[in-house]
Amino acid sequence: MGNGIAQVAARAGYSVVMRDVKDEFLQRGLQAIDRSLQRDVDKELLSTEEKQSIIERIKSTTELEALSEASFVVEAVTENLSVKTEIFSALDRITPPDAILASNTSSISITRLGAATERPDKVIGMHFMNPVPVMKLVEVIRGLATSNETYERVRSLSEKLGKTALDCNDSPGFVSNRVLLPMINEAIFTLHEGVATRESIDGIMKLGMNHPMGPLQLADFIGLDVCLAILNVLYDGLGDSKYRACPLLKRYVDAGWLGKKTGRGFYEY
Ligand code: 3HC
Repeated sequence: MGNGIAQVAARAGYSVVMRDVKDEFLQRGLQAIDRSLQRDVDKELLSTEEKQSIIERIKSTTELEALSEASFVVEAVTENLSVKTEIFSALDRITPPDAILASNTSSISITRLGAATERPDKVIGMHFMNPVPVMKLVEVIRGLATSNETYERVRSLSEKLGKTALDCNDSPGFVSNRVLLPMINEAIFTLHEGVATRESIDGIMKLGMNHPMGPLQLADFIGLDVCLAILNVLYDGLGDSKYRACPLLKRYVDAGWLGKKTGRGFYEY
């Protein structure tokens, strides 16, 4: 999702530094940005020159120190608490003291990320939805120590990015994934128990509920490892067995069938 966030920020006129751990990941991100902007060029919503200047506003790097002058950071690393706390602690050392450190986490506690820094008042959740350039929502999550000033800056930035900010308190899975993931998990249970085929399950939800994608296809699109990580956060954080991940989901993740990004999930890509 990082490249989508970089794209919408650069399109809104901001200078962006996109940082990843490997150059090949950066190249893949830049290609995704190019393809996404090209859709709008083809629809004559953007000129080729505008597309070029958006791309030129994005610098890519593998060095975290390149963020030393950033006034606003959106972290979008893997959904793993220890990786995220390590990043937040490093960002706290590297970035200017008044910089806001936002996380695009889909379920991890913002309060815990804030506690990994000396500036918990400037740590906040800024949860974008996939595909970031298309989806209008930013779910804004306030940690226990997040200040009103930080919250207002995030609301205003979200608007400048062309998004609608809706807020919620720091609770496992926030609102979006607390509601979405049990539905996806239940769809996986119906497949696991042989209630219906993948095509029927997705077709029933698309045609019957007017969902743009069926839940199994959406799980592939989100990433099955991400779905499992979110369900585990809900299960551990809320202590209710209704959030237990379906064994079939665990088996797919064990097999490395993580959805669209690995070429195989509930469907083949
Ligand atoms: N960049 C730019 N534009 C894009 C795009 C991208 N990456 N992907 C799609 N689009 C545009 C298309 O150009 C098209 O625009 P148009 O209507 O002006 O022609 C429009 O989006 C629709 O695209 P398509 O016709 O190619 O395909 P669909 O009609 O199937 O729409 C979709 C694709 C928007 C992804 C739609 O299937 C959808 O809304 N799916 C559900 C998405 C969803 O639920 N996202 C949330 C996931 S949960 C999450 O992110 C949270 C995390 O924490 C887990």
